[in-house]
Amino acid sequence: MHDPTCGGDVRTLPCAPATRCAFPRHAGRRTGLRGLFILLFAATLPAQAETLARVASPGGTLSVTLESQHEGRLAYRVDRGSRPVIAPSRLGFLLGDGRLERNLELVGQSSRSFDETWEQPWGERRQVRNHYNELRASFAEKPHGGRDQGRRFDVVFRVYDDGIGFRYEFPRQPALDEVRIRQELTEFAVARPATAWWIPAFEWNREEYLYARTPLSEVGIAQTPITLRSDDGLHISIHEAALVDYAGMNLARGGDGVLRAALTPGNDHSAAVVRTAPFNTPWRTILVGGRAGDLAESSLMLNLNEPNRIGDVSWFKPAKYVGVWWSLHLDEETWGTGPRHGATTANTKRYIDFAAANGFRGVLVEGWNPGWDGDWFANGWNFDFTRPTADFDLEGLAAYGAERGVHLIGHHETACAVSHYERQLPAALDLYARNGVDVVKTGYVCDAGDIQRQDKAGGPVIREWHEGQWMSNHHVRVLEAAAKRHIAINSHEPIKGTGLHRTWPNWVSREGARGMEFNAWATPPNPPEHEANLVFTRMLAGPMDFTPGIVSLKGRGGQQIESTLAKQLALYVVIYSPIQMVADLPEHYAEHPDAFQFIKDVAVDWEESHVLAGEVGDHVTFARKVRGGDEWFLGSVTDEEARIVEVPLSFLDPGRRYRAEIYRDGDRAHWKTAPFEFVRETREVRSSDRYTLKLAAGGGQAIRFVPVD
Ligand code: NOJ
Ligand code: CA
Repeated sequence: MHDPTCGGDVRTLPCAPATRCAFPRHAGRRTGLRGLFILLFAATLPAQAETLARVASPGGTLSVTLESQHEGRLAYRVDRGSRPVIAPSRLGFLLGDGRLERNLELVGQSSRSFDETWEQPWGERRQVRNHYNELRASFAEKPHGGRDQGRRFDVVFRVYDDGIGFRYEFPRQPALDEVRIRQELTEFAVARPATAWWIPAFEWNREEYLYARTPLSEVGIAQTPITLRSDDGLHISIHEAALVDYAGMNLARGGDGVLRAALTPGNDHSAAVVRTAPFNTPWRTILVGGRAGDLAESSLMLNLNEPNRIGDVSWFKPAKYVGVWWSLHLDEETWGTGPRHGATTANTKRYIDFAAANGFRGVLVEGWNPGWDGDWFANGWNFDFTRPTADFDLEGLAAYGAERGVHLIGHHETACAVSHYERQLPAALDLYARNGVDVVKTGYVCDAGDIQRQDKAGGPVIREWHEGQWMSNHHVRVLEAAAKRHIAINSHEPIKGTGLHRTWPNWVSREGARGMEFNAWATPPNPPEHEANLVFTRMLAGPMDFTPGIVSLKGRGGQQIESTLAKQLALYVVIYSPIQMVADLPEHYAEHPDAFQFIKDVAVDWEESHVLAGEVGDHVTFARKVRGGDEWFLGSVTDEEARIVEVPLSFLDPGRRYRAEIYRDGDRAHWKTAPFEFVRETREVRSSDRYTLKLAAGGGQAIRFVPVD
């Protein structure tokens, strides 16, 4: 039975008497009260599950119910209409001085609505609507077991039509000053059997694993975002937003579809997080959509972050870049000095000329500084970020680039000697700022758990995790130092993305997944389904510096890349980043002038973005409109299956005619047997047309739509 007044299920949420199904205690802000339902119940229900409060999304699609369970434990659940999405799931903490999860009493609640549209300085869409209903529930611990400390915290839920976020907020209070969080007891009890796409947590190669597709019941300890498709067809992604001064959340499988928070440890393993009240945890997020594409179109993670804190960032220019990079991964040139050193003045000039000739703004140069000789993986303490090697004329090259409209892109590989890097950071960034370097790629290459922290020079070196509390703060320190100098950051081997690029819009991209480099040297390389997995998993955490465009389709020693040529072009539209590498060698682009034309033309900053079609791990098609322009771009990729995907062109402006510049797989194309079978053709289209994409096995298609009237 379903009660429309409350949008709930009468069996578990007895809200039939309409008078009980009401309404915020405090007036909502901006949108008023429409669509906001809060239930407050007297303690009339059986002791094991008493409904405390409920809040629905603005359009009524999703609702969250907060319950008190046996012994005063808290639980929340999420429903989509009458369909349970998250069954009652526990909330609470394991603290240094005991569990904070029982004998919790609701001592106050309030609610509000919020509706605002804000503008991104760069991104997948210019305008972002932030529209939610919020419930704040305040809890105090009742005296129990000899404890009468009355510890207090709030749980805040923000409920959107496409998902929810919730976090814990600890107010200032006498009973809790320093809070040592050993573990969060937050659970996500997925209500239906589901298929999961996930990568393991706590493995040595950090986030660089292929996505496994398993039943939810076979997930081990997963990183977030984790993506699920329930047996009744819902798409769900669990992740977090605004991870600042806190440990990253992983998810460990419990019984019966339950995923439990598993925080990344701190250095002494006695607490994952140490904070002083008042403080908030990051938001725990659950996206829920009917289509896979709903997940990729959501702005919920960004909305749950604080607004821009660094002011005007018009100095950051979304752009494409080339670099002394693929040659290093092919082992044709070296990071270290010597006869094959890549970062020489002459070689970098060649790349600057190539960039200038083709309209690319950036030139990345890796291996430009002392410290790469020998086993750099093991000797991050040798890196000097404040001066170039003798064969690299940084100032001369910066000036040479400036005359041609080209900027060097900086590189700070730390090899995880992070404190050593932090000590040099001001001088290192000053050096770059003086030379017009306004994007820096950072790197944290080492095994997971091996970040080296040394609080005082000469003091003991202690080990941290890439996703622990200390590194969450390290990244903010880098962002702030860089922002002061108008420098943007692209972190490799990073902490996961949680939407902080809203607050620090100079955090423009990151790695945090298996990128193109694996096709240079990994056996096996990335499989054809990899990018159709990434879009619906890793990419939900924000931009990725995937480094597409390997038109030679070859890695080290001629190893074949499992892609067609057309798919390499489609990746520029499919894998979003405001800085996109044109990653192959200049001489390889010279061999493929037709394909190269698309790479020159494709935009990197967007007015709007839409997923026209897609299934997790199978295929995906995006349409994106150029920021500040009239052109549209379409990118479509498939996995190892050839497919025909029909899409409406209704995203185009009605009444206009467009020249579609099509870059597609040839009729006989196949990633393995005929990867270079490729067709470039044009035709005229309009918004009322439907378009049929023919994708080869391991293939793709890229289209530029230019208005012709
Ligand atoms: C790993 C990065 O992902 C890659 O792009 C870089 O070239 C190496 N580290 C060296 O810093
Ligand atoms: Ca990497």
